[in-house]
Amino acid sequence: KVADLKGLKQGQLRLAVITTAKYFIPRLLGPFCQLYPGIDIALQVTNHEGILERMSANLDDLYILSQVPEHMDVNYQPFLENPMVVVAPINHRLAKEKKISIQQLEDEPFIMREPGSGTRRSIQKLFDEHNITVKVKLELGSNEAIKQAIAGGLGISVLSRHTLLPELADLTILDVEHFPIKRDWYMVYPNGKQLSIVARTYCEYLLDAAKQFNQKTIGVYAEAER
Ligand code: PGA
Repeated sequence: KVADLKGLKQGQLRLAVITTAKYFIPRLLGPFCQLYPGIDIALQVTNHEGILERMSANLDDLYILSQVPEHMDVNYQPFLENPMVVVAPINHRLAKEKKISIQQLEDEPFIMREPGSGTRRSIQKLFDEHNITVKVKLELGSNEAIKQAIAGGLGISVLSRHTLLPELADLTILDVEHFPIKRDWYMVYPNGKQLSIVARTYCEYLLDAAKQFNQKTIGVYAEAER
């Protein structure tokens, strides 16, 4: 019976996720663990480069990131959108403007993530495509710290929209052309690796949770972006 099978799902699940997924994945672990009390979880949160290092060393069962590694033979599946938006303080002079040109970002002090960050790579790629050079005023290794710095008036930045879900009180999303940068979160594991039953159970759970999240948050995002 299914119920018996559930009881049999025991063991450890080792997950490594990029920084933006920490706004989504831990929240889901509670219900997952209630469903499968026999499963213990170890969760690592690190930047894109950190994930690649862990993957090369085969340290975890599953990885969640936004750019599929190019130089590794991996299995991957997108499960949720992870768009990146331009974030400014709520009282910013461009806050009410529509269709801001991407060139206008060159006039703003910019807060940038650290080298090795996938966020930084995506921003740099878009800026390179449009020959944009921003004035990096501050480099910070954390999305949370960037949000606080923006709220403190140090500059603007580009962040995953998921980082804004918990609170959007002091911040706003600017309507800049070519944004949001479209991307997804992917579940990834090395090709040829045999996934444990525990890991496969988690994959199914995550796909289902992502579907529900999509249904629930479309409204939340529309609200936040108004
Ligand atoms: P990062 O990755 O923490 O390496 O910037 C986040 C993301 O790509 O969403």
